[in-house]
Amino acid sequence: MSLQKKTIWITGASSGIGEAIAYEFNKKGAHLILSARRVEELERVKESCENAEDTVKILPLDLSDQDAMPAKTDQALEFFGSIDMLINNGGISQRAYAIDSDMDTIRRVMEVNYFGTVALTKAVLPHMVEQNSGHVVVVSSVMGKIGTKHRSAYAASKHALHGWFDCLRQEMYEHGIDVTLVCPGFVKTNVTINALTADGGRHNKMEDAQANAMSAEEFAKKLIPQLARKKEEIFIGGSELMAVYLKRLSPWVLNKVLRKVKVT
Ligand SMILES: NC(=O)c1ccc[n+]([C@@H]2O[C@H](COP(=O)([O-])OP(=O)(O)OC[C@H]3O[C@@H](n4cnc5c(N)ncnc54)[C@H](OP(=O)(O)O)[C@@H]3O)[C@@H](O)[C@H]2O)c1
Repeated sequence: MSLQKKTIWITGASSGIGEAIAYEFNKKGAHLILSARRVEELERVKESCENAEDTVKILPLDLSDQDAMPAKTDQALEFFGSIDMLINNGGISQRAYAIDSDMDTIRRVMEVNYFGTVALTKAVLPHMVEQNSGHVVVVSSVMGKIGTKHRSAYAASKHALHGWFDCLRQEMYEHGIDVTLVCPGFVKTNVTINALTADGGRHNKMEDAQANAMSAEEFAKKLIPQLARKKEEIFIGGSELMAVYLKRLSPWVLNKVLRKVKVT
């Protein structure tokens, strides 16, 4: 896949996985549109890119503001005239027991991770259908395939993405549009620091699993070639990926294991 001058719109590009993906695509000569809420962080990412003035644009957006997505898409199209790949990466995690979690917190996770991603994709799709090509990528999680303690709203939002985007893939086949769901295991980012607590506060703790995981740069390097192959699902991580395969082979064994292991 030649990425030279292909336009790639990345959400959650102000840190972590989205930032690392942006640098990888920038090195390959793609045109980038970087989105997230924190403008100063997006500026920092842009400044770290090569030839940024000509090839990198910033488009701040809040995924919980779904009504804004059609206008944001119009703005995105004005930058380079097309969108070849949309990488729905922006998201928020959770660290709280289900029984303690406020409904507002549960809804907030769903608004950002699920409804925000769906709304942005729906805004971009008519353009991709018109050009008869496109690639929609969603950064889900291993938690889109299994469930563990402390992550009920997060896992629900990621599972929901699989349902919606699996259906979309069937509908978009005749329009030449590919859909890829990416399931990272643990990646060393601020995701647990930014995770929501039961009452919607900030978890503010880097959990051990994240601290000892692969870097976002390594993750991005592994991701790009697999995206080029337009795989339908991509799994990148360490031994935690075993849980996904065990869920398929023997869900009751997985449940027994997960009940016993320390999950942070
Ligand atoms: N790190 C992991 O171990 C891991 C594992 C599985 C899946 N993932 C997924 O990977 C994706 C990226 O996370 P990360 O690990 O890179 O964590 P991160 O560093 O916390 O990045 C999250 C990104 O999402 C953006 N974001 C959060 N809320 C937003 C909102 N309301 N509107 C727009 N953008 C928003 C943040 O930007 P602003 O704050 O500037 O808006 C930030 O750029 C997420 O979807 C996450 O669920 C991560």
